[in-house]
Amino acid sequence: MPTCGICLKKTSGSESYHRGCLESLFGAGTLPRFGEIELRTLYRLASEMAGKMSISGVQEKVSLALSSGRTELQISASGGRFILKPEPARYSSVPQNEHVTMLMASLVGIETPPFGLVWLKDGSPAYVIKRFDRLDDGSKLHVEDFCQLCELPLRDKYQGSGEQCVRILRKYATEPLIEIHKLFKILLFTWWVANGDHHLKNLSLLITPKRIHRLTPAYDLLCTRLVIPKDRDLALSIGGKKAKLTRKSWTDFAKYCRIAEKATERLLADQINATGRAVELIRNSFLSEELKNQYMEIVRMNTTILST
Ligand SMILES: Nc1ncnc2c1ncn2[C@@H]1O[C@H](COP(=O)(O)OP(=O)(O)OP(=O)(O)O)[C@@H](O)[C@H]1O
Ligand SMILES: [Mg+2]
Ligand SMILES: [Zn+2]
Repeated sequence: MPTCGICLKKTSGSESYHRGCLESLFGAGTLPRFGEIELRTLYRLASEMAGKMSISGVQEKVSLALSSGRTELQISASGGRFILKPEPARYSSVPQNEHVTMLMASLVGIETPPFGLVWLKDGSPAYVIKRFDRLDDGSKLHVEDFCQLCELPLRDKYQGSGEQCVRILRKYATEPLIEIHKLFKILLFTWWVANGDHHLKNLSLLITPKRIHRLTPAYDLLCTRLVIPKDRDLALSIGGKKAKLTRKSWTDFAKYCRIAEKATERLLADQINATGRAVELIRNSFLSEELKNQYMEIVRMNTTILST
């Protein structure tokens, strides 16, 4: 039985996706066509679009819009409701890695936009995510990333710390306690999945039409250690450290966040208790057997660190 390219559970018959999963991502029960798009064409379009799109980032990506009947996804420089991230030229398995990692984030209650995997005409996988900064009528919500909020230039996106992000939320969030609690979960999770690229531009504040300032749903979560094995440092320091974090690093950081002891215990236990289900997701993912084994070992090792 095939595995659903959205939720990673088995489908019945020969379907590549569950109908309900397609509905939650695309608003229609059938997979929209995206014409004759190939990886080569995408790389060219991505570099052409890079300056015109309101989304930045290092990896190639294009903006996609759904046709009025929701039957076709078209590449569009403006008005796109989706972002498509194909396999990068230099690294393999990144779409599969981001896809399973974003699903693992949901296990600990981290909010994410709808997302999934699609396959291009040449058979290569690509990751699609729905934009959180567009409303159904096409209007745009205001978003500011933490690099901007810290008033740092782009080149300093790796110069931040978890503590600095907490201060940003104390200063700007409408409900700082709630948002800091969410931030703690996200930072703990990024360490747990060995994501060394969770820098200041991968956290953003969303300003809703009612002027509520809150964290956006999470994005750009992946295990960078699978991509670059020697990359062992976090992008944002915790307690002044980017490596060799311990359970105490997280309980100390929780104190900085002013999270009560009981709530901290709960947060750490939730991450530890997600291991079995995370391993199951990794097992069902579209990663190669070798990468699956490496990923399982990484989360098991970090669970051990968090448990002692
Ligand atoms: N679902 C989304 N909705 C709206 N904006 C998004 C979404 N996902 C990402 N973005 C914006 O697009 C930017 C680039 O996306 P993303 O971080 O996924 O790409 P990347 O190239 O992998 O980034 P990096 O340079 O961190 O490796 C983000 O910094 C964010 O501002
Ligand atoms: Mg990014
Ligand atoms: Zn599904």
